[in-house]
Amino acid sequence: MPVEPKAIGIFDSGVGGLTVLRRVGECLPNESIVYLGDTARVPYGTKSADTVIRYARACAGILLERGIKILVVACNTASAYALDMLRDELDMPVIGVVEPGALEALHQTHNKRVGVIGTAGTVASGQYTDTIQSLDPNIEVFSKACPLFVPLAEEGWTDGEVPLAVARTYLADFALRDIDTIVLGCTHYPLLKEVIGQAVGEGVVLVDSAEATAHAVCDVVAAMDIAAASGRPPSHQFLVSDAPDGFARIGRRFLGRDIGEVDWVDF
Ligand code: DGL
Repeated sequence: MPVEPKAIGIFDSGVGGLTVLRRVGECLPNESIVYLGDTARVPYGTKSADTVIRYARACAGILLERGIKILVVACNTASAYALDMLRDELDMPVIGVVEPGALEALHQTHNKRVGVIGTAGTVASGQYTDTIQSLDPNIEVFSKACPLFVPLAEEGWTDGEVPLAVARTYLADFALRDIDTIVLGCTHYPLLKEVIGQAVGEGVVLVDSAEATAHAVCDVVAAMDIAAASGRPPSHQFLVSDAPDGFARIGRRFLGRDIGEVDWVDF
């Protein structure tokens, strides 16, 4: 069944992309959104490029059936591996999280020493490094995979000794490298912003790629003149490929409010 005429489609490997939906909803309160969490196949961050590309194509297909006008790839790993393919194959604007995050890092860094943290896949892809250096080849980029941040955020262990010890261990190298800006290159990391900030100390800017992406979505909607007509109440629809109840329970923290109904889709 199609959603509101021409919603914004957002997909992620699971709950994490709700951090992006939250920001997009704040920027564009009149827009209807259909969100797909691929909870049957999560995590993407440990999978190969070919597998993530295959999953991303399937997710995009489900959202296209719902009559979307623009596709947002909220998952950093899927953006890193599959954005070019989606842009080639789809006849609509496709926005990923890597370019907006990279651009914001460029604006924030003064000493041109930038850290990027993400899943093993995002870091292995080198996409953040390549994108940042295509904007300014003089920026040095240091990347680090921080896989334990994902389960910590999902468990709700976002403050206290355990996440702080994990953050300090992962980010000890960054402290030695005089980095002034770190890109939170994973959907889950905004929930750990405070402990990451504590671990790296004051004076390091943390770039939230979810926030940067929401601004990019606003810009595209305005530039293409495809904003929803006012007058119709917007809807937010949630789809998952497995375990709707768990998605609603864990996702609440990522979205910052109750999720309500979640529909299961088989693909
Ligand atoms: N959504 C993923 C990302 O931003 C994190 C979770 C996963 O590995 O699927 O890369």
